[in-house]
Amino acid sequence: MSCHNTVVLETRHAGRQIIKNGNAIRTVDNVSYAFNKAHIYNLIGPSGAGKSSLLRLLNRLDEPTEGEVRFFDKPLAEYPPTELRRMVSMLFQTPYLFPGTVRDNLQFCCCDLTDDKIGQLLTRVGLDESFAGKDADDLSGGERQRVAIARALSLEPEVLLLDEPTASLDPTSSQTIEDLILRLSEELCLTTIIVTHHPNQALRLGGETLFLVKGRLVETGKTEKVLKDPETELARKYINRELR
Ligand SMILES: Nc1ncnc2c1ncn2[C@@H]1O[C@H](COP(=O)(O)OP(=O)(O)OP(=O)(O)O)[C@@H](O)[C@H]1O
Ligand SMILES: [Mg+2]
Repeated sequence: MSCHNTVVLETRHAGRQIIKNGNAIRTVDNVSYAFNKAHIYNLIGPSGAGKSSLLRLLNRLDEPTEGEVRFFDKPLAEYPPTELRRMVSMLFQTPYLFPGTVRDNLQFCCCDLTDDKIGQLLTRVGLDESFAGKDADDLSGGERQRVAIARALSLEPEVLLLDEPTASLDPTSSQTIEDLILRLSEELCLTTIIVTHHPNQALRLGGETLFLVKGRLVETGKTEKVLKDPETELARKYINRELR
């Protein structure tokens, strides 16, 4: 399948100010960036840099207080929220699965899914079709994350927003998820925006990297370049673990 270089999501001077302990703080500060279809984007930066906050602006879990976010060149507010979150799907570090079987979980979003379709979704995320009948409580962390991704895929999203999806997984399960992300962007032309604390994970995923500090985009570019030969002193310090 060939994917076109269309802009899927775009932030224009997007910012968000919140009041914390009586003080105004900017969790996202003047971020302008265009995300292209079928690309992988790594969001990196120190703790509290605003990575999750930026992600939450991208499917309107939070509203920007300045600037705007556009999806296919229309402001997010012009899409019905449920439709928007179907197309721009967010997954978290610990996936929430409902009590019941894997089939129940997949049918939650799309109740008319046939067994064939459920089998295809499971195969797509690298799980055997027999997983459909398993109890969600009996799955490993990596399997749960893959079921959560399959559930998101059942709605045929354009963009996956992943907030540290491998943070609670062992290295082997993490690698399975990374391989899956790489495969999905190629096979389904999916755009993936992933928050990671691991420069090596970003390097394995490749694509582009956005480096944030204090809500601001400090450096962006090809992942290899940003992580191995950064332009900015801040990025260099972050990579050398000198940035707190
Ligand atoms: N709901 C909230 N209430 C108060 N402060 C918040 C809230 N959400 C975010 N913040 C603050 O906004 C800033 C950015 O937080 P955010 O969670 O986006 O950072 P992060 O880069 O995702 O950090 P981490 O790597 O630790 O997950 C931090 O200073 C945080 O304390
Ligand atoms: Mg975060």
